[in-house]
Amino acid sequence: MNVENTRKPDYHVDCMFIDRWSPRSFVNSQLDSEILNSLFEAARWAPSCYNEQPWLFVFSTNEQEKEKLLDTLLPGNRTWNKNVPVIAYIMARKKFSKNNKSNFHAMFDTGAAWMSLALQARKLGLYTHAMAGFDRKKVYQLLNLEPQEIEVIAALAIGYEDEPEKLDAKLQKMEYPNQRKSIENFSFSLSSFQQGGFKLTGTE
Ligand SMILES: Cc1cc2nc3c(=O)[nH]c(=O)nc-3n(C[C@H](O)[C@H](O)[C@H](O)COP(=O)(O)O)c2cc1C
Repeated sequence: MNVENTRKPDYHVDCMFIDRWSPRSFVNSQLDSEILNSLFEAARWAPSCYNEQPWLFVFSTNEQEKEKLLDTLLPGNRTWNKNVPVIAYIMARKKFSKNNKSNFHAMFDTGAAWMSLALQARKLGLYTHAMAGFDRKKVYQLLNLEPQEIEVIAALAIGYEDEPEKLDAKLQKMEYPNQRKSIENFSFSLSSFQQGGFKLTGTE
């Protein structure tokens, strides 16, 4: 661990939830396929609506492929991803395979799969960093995808954490595990919810 983790849970929780965070400084050394397969194995066992398993992951295995994926990221993400050993895209099939009907829960299920992957990564000493900052058009073109069929949800950096000093000054300042709202902001008994316990804004 290169960065101090000051996160403190309010209630007991397994430390794996606190240990997962999204660094930007990564060691530029290739990950072997056993490790990558272990991450996808964790994603594999995520629950999904009708057990559809709508998630799709496309990842780079060498520098040439990585360059192509790097080019699809927005500039703010491209800078720090240059050192990331594996860049991937997380996607979801939007229709059920058995009847081609819309799968409203595909994004939810794919979110569960990515979180499983992220937690397994920490078990192996790795870190992940999801990214919405990518050029949608470029990704759909590169992967030859139809937006009606596949939702490209996020890009993903995977690797071992490196020293914050390797980042530029602006990113260095952001290189620490951030905090969260307390559970009262998002968990309610039915009665307190109905009595207006939930406010759309100003909950902090
Ligand atoms: C869907 C998604 C999109 C994100 N997009 C970006 C991004 O484009 N660039 C970036 O640096 N971080 C991005 N993040 C990282 C979030 O800022 C980060 O997860 C959040 O601040 C919580 O911090 P933590 O992951 O370190 O716990 C993204 C995270 C998620 C889940």
